[in-house]
Amino acid sequence: MQRVAELASGWAEQMGVPDSERNRWLRAVWLHDALRDAPPEELAKWASTTPGPKELWHGPASAARAKAEGEIDRGVLDAVRYHSVGLAEWDMVGRILYCADFLDPERKFDREVRAELAQRLPQDPRGVLREVARARLLHLVKTGWPIPDPTFRFWNSLVAAGSGSR
Ligand SMILES: [Fe+2]
Repeated sequence: MQRVAELASGWAEQMGVPDSERNRWLRAVWLHDALRDAPPEELAKWASTTPGPKELWHGPASAARAKAEGEIDRGVLDAVRYHSVGLAEWDMVGRILYCADFLDPERKFDREVRAELAQRLPQDPRGVLREVARARLLHLVKTGWPIPDPTFRFWNSLVAAGSGSR
């Protein structure tokens, strides 16, 4: 998590965003996997209405708990809630968390490609977001998982935004 926070913090600095915005990004980073390793009863307590497989419960559960503990920023809560699936309506917090989570240098796959994307993000946040979404969708399709509803709406919003194709 430290590495993900450092990544987001570095982007904030390079992009010259105000401290208040940087703090939102970092709150989302610290909150997003709070319940990733929680026992099923704990997850069910916070995310009992979440559809789909258990792997997708920790985002909604972490967001619900953050809210109960006083987080009121809608963008931060949506970033946490949907970090595993994507959300078309995300503001910058959700987009940054989605990218930072995937581009985490501690993840072992595709290291070079991901490092290049992480480096490029401050100059091209929209293009990098699209590449990250593309990679994550391809993975979903390859593994044969169903595509969650928010995920294809998210993808379509990126394509409709006309961020170029490659
Ligand atoms: Fe997660």
